[in-house]
Amino acid sequence: MKQTVFIIGLGLIGGSLALGLKRNKDISIIGYDAQSQTLQTAQKIGVIDEMASHMEEGAALADVIIFATPVNETIRLMHEMSKWSLKKQVIVTDTGSTKKEIMKAALRLKEMGITFIGGHPMAGSHKSGVEAARAHLFENAFYMLTPFENENKKEVKILFDILQVTKAKVVQVNAVEHDHMTAVVSHFPHLVAASLVHQLAGENEQFPFTKQLASGGFRDLTRIASANPIMWRDITLQNRKELSNQLHMWTEEMNKLQNLLLHGEADEIETYFSKAKQVRDELPITTQGAMFSVFDLYVDVPDYPGVISEITGYLAKGDISITNLRIVETREDIFGILVVSFQTMDDRAKAVKCIANNTTFETYIS
Ligand SMILES: NC(=O)c1ccc[n+]([C@@H]2O[C@H](COP(=O)([O-])OP(=O)(O)OC[C@H]3O[C@@H](n4cnc5c(N)ncnc54)[C@H](O)[C@@H]3O)[C@@H](O)[C@H]2O)c1
Repeated sequence: MKQTVFIIGLGLIGGSLALGLKRNKDISIIGYDAQSQTLQTAQKIGVIDEMASHMEEGAALADVIIFATPVNETIRLMHEMSKWSLKKQVIVTDTGSTKKEIMKAALRLKEMGITFIGGHPMAGSHKSGVEAARAHLFENAFYMLTPFENENKKEVKILFDILQVTKAKVVQVNAVEHDHMTAVVSHFPHLVAASLVHQLAGENEQFPFTKQLASGGFRDLTRIASANPIMWRDITLQNRKELSNQLHMWTEEMNKLQNLLLHGEADEIETYFSKAKQVRDELPITTQGAMFSVFDLYVDVPDYPGVISEITGYLAKGDISITNLRIVETREDIFGILVVSFQTMDDRAKAVKCIANNTTFETYIS
């Protein structure tokens, strides 16, 4: 059955969803973006099939409407939507990283008989904008749906079926639980990463060489601090309460750590790190988590002229494309000199085999 999907906001997430959904030939995508330049680019590079000249125009034609705008903007648009004329069976969803406030705003739509199912595809990138959009962005990633409890079962199934083509792992959760869990694994770590970078910046004023040393583990640990500040401003505002609880727990953990630091015996300190290592080592690596993933491969190469072109040559022969390549200078806490980044988990797995078949270099996924 032919379906028309209207996507509002054609940035990284809206654009990637458009490309992912277009793999199904029965789906046609109408797009709209507040930036006319973005809208035109989306049409020009084939991200959308048609442009809507304004939101109401696209919405009136749609079987599914997806808000892929920053979360505060989505709430504002959901209020406006109550004045639009829509198809009777339309399903409205969003892609926002927070869900409780969105579902609160959706109550008004529900009262008007409009089906709203919250959505959050848990994949992304530190890049933003339509040019960064990729059809494969959601492959293997969890895609959370947060419908109103025990309601819209038929519509949830329809949306679930539509999203299958993106190859995401679509799951259903409660909106409050969603915001709690994402605070733990994504939103609060973002605050910590940003605060570590601030601490480094302060230290660097006094010891200007510090930044140079921060290329290895520190860079990996704080990667998420490079994400879109406007998106993170909105997420922080909408998930304030959960974040404040997490900060309280973190402060308690830091107090415990300070006590250990000042008075702990060697075996207590070792136990602290051993327990953390055990939990960390057991984290899944076969799905994308809540934070955006990069598919990095660490390669332990010896230092001789031409070694990098040797590796990239093998990968090129194996038809495996890479997105980035860097040498790690500070390697105290990681293994491997060369870090090669790939677009997908599959490409990285192929690269592991390719390097093993052609060299004796060890590879490592952190
Ligand atoms: N980037 C990620 O890692 C990620 C991951 C999962 C979910 N999300 C969520 O997806 C949503 C979009 O994020 P993104 O990374 O694609 O952002 P983005 O900045 O790349 O794109 C947002 C787009 O929305 C457009 N826009 C803003 N206000 C608008 C309005 N009133 N009407 C129409 N268009 C408007 C912007 O012009 C822009 O093109 C956010 O709610 C974010 O929380 C992001």
